[in-house]
Amino acid sequence: MARIFACKVDEIEPGGTLTVEGATPVAVYLTEDGDWFASDDSCTHEQFSLGTEGDLDGDEVVCPLHMARFDLRTGKPMCFPATIALRMHEVVVEGDEVHVVLTGSDESSADASGPAAMGA
Ligand code: FES
Repeated sequence: MARIFACKVDEIEPGGTLTVEGATPVAVYLTEDGDWFASDDSCTHEQFSLGTEGDLDGDEVVCPLHMARFDLRTGKPMCFPATIALRMHEVVVEGDEVHVVLTGSDESSADASGPAAMGA
């Protein structure tokens, strides 16, 4: 599995989010309670960056575009319009560095998933 460096621990305030750009853009979240989470960066409703635009509410991230909510412990959508779960990734904090272990990344370069990714 691929592991990427995400950020330094002090780059996110509690209750904050950020996006790690790359072949698989990843959103990293630090809750007010000090829990780290990571997911695919885009909302599953439409293409919209949760790491850059999302708002944390406890253990949930709210997509401000249409107000979908996702449970960061499971990735499950908590309300419409989102119906597809976020793909979650494992976060590893080592010293002052935050790393993300990408789920499913060992299935080679399936990031650009063909014609279905085009359009709309
Ligand atoms: S794009 Fe996130 S709720 Fe619509």
